[in-house]
Amino acid sequence: MHITVLSGAGLSAESGLGTFRDKDGLWTKYDLAEVATPEGFAADPEKVHSFYNARRKNAADAAFNAAHEALARLKTVFGQRLTLVTQNVDSLLEAAGARDVLHMHGALDRAKCTSCGHRFPALRVMSPQDPCPNCSSPTTRPDIVWFGEYPEHMGEIEQALSRCDLFVAIGTSGQVYPAAGLVDLARESGAQTLEINLEASDISHRFHDARYGPATEVVPNWVQELIG
Ligand code: OAD
Repeated sequence: MHITVLSGAGLSAESGLGTFRDKDGLWTKYDLAEVATPEGFAADPEKVHSFYNARRKNAADAAFNAAHEALARLKTVFGQRLTLVTQNVDSLLEAAGARDVLHMHGALDRAKCTSCGHRFPALRVMSPQDPCPNCSSPTTRPDIVWFGEYPEHMGEIEQALSRCDLFVAIGTSGQVYPAAGLVDLARESGAQTLEINLEASDISHRFHDARYGPATEVVPNWVQELIG
């Protein structure tokens, strides 16, 4: 059996990292257009760096939770038969021991140069003046996929969906595409689909099954049932 798991902010919520759209979510406090678009970065790079510097610090201070741990255990048992896709830019799945996580929206601990395309580990605190370690140009940015940009690893993700028997979405509101459309691709390939979330999402009707509750309870239980 091949499984593809797509995770979202709800997976890391109980590690103390805020979600985006829940009550008190990040997009209730910040203007998405200002801090998470190429246009926002061009207009005010200082503000965008300061937003991601704060996210990077929060993520560095956070510890993985029982849901990350359960997925890492599942990956160890399933190996290539499990594809872990995440929209999360933290590295808590890796901290829990998961390998080969596909970060479709980028990662806080990486940076890239808009001049030469070089990718490198992000400084803990980035600023618009930082020179690129490859070409020295002060044109570096967080390696985050912003709105209006194309997500990473889409080829690998589509390939995984084409052969998966079970697709599981964990802690995601289903409001951002193409991630929210992955359930449909999985169904087209004949996969069973399961939503795990605190409560029904806007796209829950597109899943065959659902399990509702905190990720730290529901995910370990589901993994336990699968692998014992
Ligand atoms: P959202 O904030 O949109 O949704 C979080 C989901 O997690 C909601 O459906 C909650 O019900 C659920 N949730 C909250 N706490 C939970 C818990 N303890 N256990 C289980 N589920 C819980 O976050 P995402 O769907 O990840 O993109 O957002 C998708 C993308 O939008 C993000 O990757 C980010 C954002 O803008 C970019 O920045 C490009």
